[in-house]
Amino acid sequence: MERIYALRKAAKDLGEPVIRDASFGLLLKTVREKQPKKILEIGVNVGLSGIAMLLNSPDSRLTGIEISEEKIEAARKNYETFGVKDRVRILSGDASEILPLITAKYDFIFLDGPKGHYFEYLPHILSALDKGGILFADNVLFRGYVGGKVKVPHRHATIKHGMENFLKALTSDKDLKTVVYDIEDGVSVTEKL
Ligand SMILES: C[S@@+](CC[C@H](N)C(=O)[O-])C[C@H]1O[C@@H](n2cnc3c(N)ncnc32)[C@H](O)[C@@H]1O
Repeated sequence: MERIYALRKAAKDLGEPVIRDASFGLLLKTVREKQPKKILEIGVNVGLSGIAMLLNSPDSRLTGIEISEEKIEAARKNYETFGVKDRVRILSGDASEILPLITAKYDFIFLDGPKGHYFEYLPHILSALDKGGILFADNVLFRGYVGGKVKVPHRHATIKHGMENFLKALTSDKDLKTVVYDIEDGVSVTEKL
């Protein structure tokens, strides 16, 4: 894991949008406790969180969705370096097009793709999530704009509104149990009951 932390630092220094430290810690804690068999990661970037999840849950397999060919190439190299490439399958393309086609079930979904699309993705994510499965979503408080801690600039109002709808749908569904963590950019952890 030390190499993962070093690579995360290098990626952050290069401006890559990797999940922040405390949220990353919560992700790994949740994965360690759950020990999922099948993980879906929406927004893979260069693969570092995926590798960390697999190293913390030895029987897991990972399916990742990523739109950038360049990031996929870097992620594949990283999977190989860390000896997890045989446990990973990448679906290359736009999550908006791929998610409606998914028929497999997952017991852990890490949602970390484009923030403006979480609400649109939600029905597909919930139908891909097994009963008892976990949906872990990053950036749900979007810079403090959701929840009103920080006044939202006009250009981000649509994303903020979409994220509010996403959280409202999660927290009002009696078949889901959701905890929202006010850390960093905001994390929600939802269990499908
Ligand atoms: C925040 S990064 C993911 C970080 C990664 N989960 C981690 O923790 O290391 C978001 C990723 O989503 C990808 N992305 C953006 N729009 C997408 C889309 N429409 N479909 C699939 N992936 C997308 C970006 O290329 C970027 O690599």
